[in-house]
Amino acid sequence: MKHLLSAQDLTRDDAVRLLDVAQDFSDVANRSVPKLPTLRGVTMVNLFFEDSTRTRLSFEAAAKRLSADVMTFQVQGSSVSKGESLKDTAQTVEAMGADIIVVRHFSSGAAHRLAHSGWVEAAIINAGDGTHEHPTQALLDAATIRERLVSKARGSDLSGLHVAIVGDIAHSRVARSNVVLLNTLGARVTVVGPPELIPSGIEGWPVATSSDLDSVIDESPDAIMMLRIQKERIKGEFQPASGNYVRNYSLTKDRANRLAEHAIVMHPGPMNRGVEIASDVADSSRSVILDQVRNGVALRMAVLFEVWGGEK
Ligand code: CP
Repeated sequence: MKHLLSAQDLTRDDAVRLLDVAQDFSDVANRSVPKLPTLRGVTMVNLFFEDSTRTRLSFEAAAKRLSADVMTFQVQGSSVSKGESLKDTAQTVEAMGADIIVVRHFSSGAAHRLAHSGWVEAAIINAGDGTHEHPTQALLDAATIRERLVSKARGSDLSGLHVAIVGDIAHSRVARSNVVLLNTLGARVTVVGPPELIPSGIEGWPVATSSDLDSVIDESPDAIMMLRIQKERIKGEFQPASGNYVRNYSLTKDRANRLAEHAIVMHPGPMNRGVEIASDVADSSRSVILDQVRNGVALRMAVLFEVWGGEK
């Protein structure tokens, strides 16, 4: 695997291999010196044109645990403010030795452009492009679902599991990548949200759709993934009134109490507590939100390992 640009590029075997390698790497965190020499001499650059806490730090931690050198670019304070393009920025970091470029960009398709334009030779990992995809988030979510809900005997088979993804589906790259990957791994997905936050063309997605969160909760999903409203992406468009939104789509304590006993609550972060998720639900025993963060480091170690040539 030279690049990781989209969950759509992953076959079931690819996804399972990444989840298995991530599971192997997860033990590294518990060592007295949490490091492997695997990527010694390799330089990874975080090229972030949008804000991030989890993804940027997680790639940095993953690269350091594999002994790679890390450089971080953030658009604030960079020469992008002087008009420097994506091409020139990428070529500049490659000239400084980047072997792997992890890119987050506000434009859908930016990671594909970097990978296929011939501008750079580096391996490209998509860390979120516009409203398009966030494949490593979907992989770490699948790792968390597998860890919590799938017995060792069933391995990576998520068939039989029902995952509800709730909120701003229209503007969510996390939802898009999750729908694709969960489907690849055999899970059933229902997307839930107000009609104005369900994307046009949803009929072509391999999902059920609902605007009634309470009736989906009554179907006893095994996992419920809450998404924030991506206000930064819906300027000028209709935004749901927050009172109505909270009343109809927030995962309140009452709604969480109606979930099956084994069901898990997920959120990719950042959370807006009191909007899409009640604070006491986010902090409850069924919440796996910090497990998602923890699994993100091992999963990104696996992705870095794979794009750098696997066993090589
Ligand atoms: N889940 C996620 O992408 O979080 P950050 O924006 O903090 O990276």
